Amino acid sequence: MALVTDDGKVSRNAFVDQGVFEQELDRIYRRTWLFVAHESEIPTAGDYVTRRMALDPVIVIRDENGAPRVFLNSCRHRGASLCSADMGNTSHFRCSYHGWTFSNEGKLRGVPGMQEMHGNTLDKDSLGLLEPRVEVIFGLIFATWNDSAPTLKDSLGPMAWYMEAAFGKCEHEVIGPPGRLLTHTNWKTGAENYGGDTYHVPTTHKSAVDLGVYGPDHLAAHPDTARHLGEFDPDRNPYLYHPYTTDQGHTGTVLHLPMKFDKPTFLGYEDNLWPEFEEHLDDEQIKMRTGMNLLLANVFPNLSWIELVTVYHGDDTPPAMALHVRQWQPIAADKTELLVWALVPKTASPEWKLWSQRAFIRTLGFGGNFETDDYQNWTSIADVNRGPAGRSLDHQYQGGGPANPTPFADDVNWPGKVYLTENTDVTMRAMYKRWQEMMDAPPASSNGDRMASPVGVG
Ligand code: FES
Ligand code: FE
Repeated sequence: MALVTDDGKVSRNAFVDQGVFEQELDRIYRRTWLFVAHESEIPTAGDYVTRRMALDPVIVIRDENGAPRVFLNSCRHRGASLCSADMGNTSHFRCSYHGWTFSNEGKLRGVPGMQEMHGNTLDKDSLGLLEPRVEVIFGLIFATWNDSAPTLKDSLGPMAWYMEAAFGKCEHEVIGPPGRLLTHTNWKTGAENYGGDTYHVPTTHKSAVDLGVYGPDHLAAHPDTARHLGEFDPDRNPYLYHPYTTDQGHTGTVLHLPMKFDKPTFLGYEDNLWPEFEEHLDDEQIKMRTGMNLLLANVFPNLSWIELVTVYHGDDTPPAMALHVRQWQPIAADKTELLVWALVPKTASPEWKLWSQRAFIRTLGFGGNFETDDYQNWTSIADVNRGPAGRSLDHQYQGGGPANPTPFADDVNWPGKVYLTENTDVTMRAMYKRWQEMMDAPPASSNGDRMASPVGVG
């Protein structure tokens, strides 16, 4: 049964029903490319981090040839977890149950009591670790269990261009390991919000705007802050919003300050980084980034990112851009582990990196103004709709729909479908359209989708 209707409604069962969740694991998470780590987390051979691809635990490791590899974190003997650390460096993983040992390239190397147990009959070559396909784009490592999936670039479609504008402008590095937060929410609630729900900002985040952390009123009222950014344009207030959608279900929004700029201007970044950005980006990406104070996106299904200039620090700190990546890792219908990475340009000064980190912590860090506001609402959705009455209703996403169409943008030349409006549900409808298409497809097992093979097999 379709849980998403053409007129912009989504059944609340999609957010609370465990049966729907199980179906998502097979129809969506078993089939799509999933983010697993940033390259800078595993810079040298043998470096690893442990992550999840939905419910499947994986080890993400740089092998001896320098290539990122991903393995199911499960011993081929009787399934025990191979690695219990969050991160480290190793040439081998030794299972804590019976001691089977695997190389960091996923090959079975050692079997205690081999001669006594198996004589010469054990085919070690067929017992390597299960290895999904891996591809890297702009430093972001993705993996998929689906050997039949299109390439990562094809799966991203127009979203690759927006990702390049954010992650391809220079080499980035993570500031430490990701923060982790176990939340009482459905994974789609955060994904749809980061994919373009600017509508919630004046209400949910009113306190942050009132405090002057963010917002056009603050800019107008604080010329000292505005001075850092550019000349305030009295003819262009409020902000300029460009939501965008793709057929692959990836969505986002770009926001520009009501300022005048007469040359490429990368708000919130040190001037000495700008030439590098200009070198790596195309003309349209440079135009998009000029005066941009917010770029947010959701890569379907569960990888979001946001680049946000925080305008006021309450001291002499100039406005700084915070770039962070967040993953809504599904655990159950009403349980999601949120992983959050803060990223900075590798060649930025230590002082600027600190400003950027502060900007992140004050807004979208776990204790920041924005994050705590959001979760109060999101956990309530998972909480109050578990009963039969709540489940009988729908969520409403009709804003900017056929009855009142969202206008397309004619002022920019960006890929995908690009709109010009402050408030619309067009991004959410695009995401749920893709979600329903994937949920309607036959199960992966009956659709000829090939599961990844163990190392050395297939
Ligand atoms: Fe790993 Fe037995 S389960 S060695
Ligand atoms: Fe929010």
